[in-house]
Amino acid sequence: MHFTTLLIEPPGIDSQLINLMLAPEKFLVNKAECGPKAWNLIIESDPPDLVIVDTDLPLNGNVRIGASQLMELMSRRSGWRKIPKLVLTSDSSSSIFQQTTKKNVCAAILKPYDPRRFIQEVFNCISKRLDAHIKEINRQHIQLGTQIKNITNMLNQGDTINLKNRLGTILAEIEDHFAFEEQYMSQHFYPDFVEHQKGHKQVLTNAAKLIDEICTSSPMIANQKIKQLSTDVFDVTDDKKYIGFLYDLLESLTTHLKTVDFKE
Ligand SMILES: [Fe+2]
Ligand SMILES: [Fe+2]
Repeated sequence: MHFTTLLIEPPGIDSQLINLMLAPEKFLVNKAECGPKAWNLIIESDPPDLVIVDTDLPLNGNVRIGASQLMELMSRRSGWRKIPKLVLTSDSSSSIFQQTTKKNVCAAILKPYDPRRFIQEVFNCISKRLDAHIKEINRQHIQLGTQIKNITNMLNQGDTINLKNRLGTILAEIEDHFAFEEQYMSQHFYPDFVEHQKGHKQVLTNAAKLIDEICTSSPMIANQKIKQLSTDVFDVTDDKKYIGFLYDLLESLTTHLKTVDFKE
């Protein structure tokens, strides 16, 4: 299990300390030592679980890209917008302290900082992100369930107008939902990822077939097939297992926090 972090921090003692605290068995740390390098990483890479950014970034050649420009860039990129940002600054008058709710800044820490406070904030940021991911999965499940139910109601009322289009829209949303789950699973080395993905592929193949059959069957048979579609999509055991894994991730982070060595 790993959490991914983009650390935008000039080389030095702070960077070394952060690396020590974000133990390699728990965190994959991608480092950018200046604004331009961070800019390129944000453009080219998948979003991490957390961004740690220092407001005191050095020039690279003649180019200076500061933390606020990087925050602006991340807020314009859809995958990066909701990633929590932990800001480190040596400027006690920095406006960032008044703006922590903006641009998903989950915490702003004044340097020099207490390592315990830092690691606690890392935990808070990641747990919020995990929590948001779990809530988003649940939201997508509810939305899909409602749409499938609406189709059932439609068929019960003998309404088949645009049936194929509406079912096509649902199929596209099922595909997006599976891709959403798989992206996170793969990024966090979910142990049953291959199995779960195989299940998703099977559901998609069956769903495409079922949708064709629904459009050409009598209302009674069509309703049975809709039920089948719903059962396939909400294979509760598999998704329950996955959500359990996410809670285990949170738990393991809490355990890790208790074992971090803060020798000074
Ligand atoms: Fe799901
Ligand atoms: Fe799933």
